[in-house]
Amino acid sequence: MVSLSFLLPLICVVVSRASPLAARAGPDPSLATFATVAGLTFVNKGLVGFGLIPANFTDSTGDTFGGVGSAIALQRGSFTANSDGTFSGSLVVQPDRGFNVDGTVDYQGRQHQIDFVLSPYYSTAALSFASAQQTLKLTYKSTFLYTERNGTVTTGLDAGGVRAAESGFPTDPLAAPQMPIPSKKDNRLTLDLEGLVLNADGTFWVSDEYGPYVYRFDATGHLIQTIQPPDAIVPMTDGDVDFTGEDDPDTGRAANNGFECLTVDESTNTLWVMLQSAAIQDGGNKKKNSRYTRLLSYDISSPSTVTPALTAEYIVPLPLDSGGDALGASEISFVSDNIFLVLARDSNGHGGDDTDSEYKGIDLIDISAATNISGSKFDSHKNAVSSKGKLDSSVAPAVYTPFVSLVNTTQLARFGLHDGDPDDSTLIDAKWESIALVSVGDSQFPHDFFLFTVADNDFLTTNGISVGQPYDAGIDVDTQFMVWRVTLPTK
Ligand SMILES: *[C@@H]1O[C@H](CO)[C@@H](O)[C@H](O)[C@H]1NC(C)=O
Ligand SMILES: *[C@@H]1O[C@H](CO)[C@@H](O)[C@H](O)[C@H]1NC(C)=O
Ligand SMILES: *[C@@H]1O[C@H](CO)[C@@H](O)[C@H](O)[C@H]1NC(C)=O
Ligand SMILES: *[C@@H]1O[C@H](CO)[C@@H](O)[C@H](O)[C@H]1NC(C)=O
Repeated sequence: MVSLSFLLPLICVVVSRASPLAARAGPDPSLATFATVAGLTFVNKGLVGFGLIPANFTDSTGDTFGGVGSAIALQRGSFTANSDGTFSGSLVVQPDRGFNVDGTVDYQGRQHQIDFVLSPYYSTAALSFASAQQTLKLTYKSTFLYTERNGTVTTGLDAGGVRAAESGFPTDPLAAPQMPIPSKKDNRLTLDLEGLVLNADGTFWVSDEYGPYVYRFDATGHLIQTIQPPDAIVPMTDGDVDFTGEDDPDTGRAANNGFECLTVDESTNTLWVMLQSAAIQDGGNKKKNSRYTRLLSYDISSPSTVTPALTAEYIVPLPLDSGGDALGASEISFVSDNIFLVLARDSNGHGGDDTDSEYKGIDLIDISAATNISGSKFDSHKNAVSSKGKLDSSVAPAVYTPFVSLVNTTQLARFGLHDGDPDDSTLIDAKWESIALVSVGDSQFPHDFFLFTVADNDFLTTNGISVGQPYDAGIDVDTQFMVWRVTLPTK
């Protein structure tokens, strides 16, 4: 191996002659912000990479590439530190259910591989938007599609139907009867995919919003396992299971507020999954009341033929905006025993409701003093844990601490980005929904990680293709990618 201690001074000399501002071995210390959780100091060292994939890009099936910030994961073993100070690797990204602004579409579940080269940018000086995109270069590689065990393709159409439980699988969400023949039953499994966890054996877990379920697929994309959550979370209307995403059920997960968040603790073989916001009986039918969401853990140490057992359940208090509305959670990521990163945000920004985003945080939750409600009366939809948004006094929630603000204007300006008007391609995207962590591998800072996050652009483009049909969404929203550098200490 070439000696790094010999090369580094040379590189620094050359770089500092060319540009004194760029001559830093690590993040400018003035960019750091701090958070204390469980007596540990977490450091946000700032935004270090930015890249994008254009709004009109198409995948290998011919569909518009989009929605991929719904879930991301580092391809196992792909991350490499290069001798020139850059890092390369692959992200696996998973879109949700296709372009559905004008109703749900017949979009098959899928994942894409995106290769990247990260050249971390550590200076306080502002890059132009064009130069900023050189800090994270992205190359689309491939796509593969999801099917059931027998090869039947999955869809993204609204879950108007129900399949009875059969051979180890629970009651499943099915596509609604399809127009133009409403009487023709569509027996296909429908998925609105959000979370993604890649396993060492090549299989992978995904979480969805309809069930809301957690599914396991094998390395070729065939469904092998399904986890149904407790009764308190399964959507029920008039006493029956009702998976539609068009209207809220009477109890269980709110429409479009399913299992957004999925992560794994590999040291204990525990899969963690969290609802975007409160279940209906827990206040989920009003944004003012929907802050108390549920985080669940499953034991995945058994072979794939055994349904994982629920091992614990906790209440997480979501942050509120200045109007008192709960900000839904879009992702979680396991950090260490009892500590997780959580992404919670408003829907303002490029492609969103408004240009001014007030809150997009990748924050910290600590469950060490939270009450485990698994196995309690709150597993039943009949017993709200936070009726009308008021938490039952017997339950201690997790502790929520703000950490990385994605809308910090000092950080955004360094990459030619902004929050608020004008509504152009340099406006930060509205819907960030994913987290992937990888160790920087810096022996001086062994707890430093690169934190990747990607936006879900809702497939918004003026030049789109959805299941073979061209469409014009009236706006182009590129899929933006960011990389932050953070210190995540452990006890
Ligand atoms: C934004 O980031 C800068 C630099 O990291 C930091 O000094 C500042 O406190 C942050 N602003 C807010 C409002 O958090
Ligand atoms: C996307 O749009 C750009 C700019 O209008 C254009 O140059 C490019 O050819 C388009 N790409 C695709 C795949 O349509
Ligand atoms: C495929 O498998 C599903 C789930 O077991 C079943 O409901 C469906 O009927 C099967 N389809 C075909 C064409 O065999
Ligand atoms: C949570 O409670 C359930 C039901 O009492 C119990 O089986 C489980 O072991 C508990 N989990 C933890 C982590 O304490």
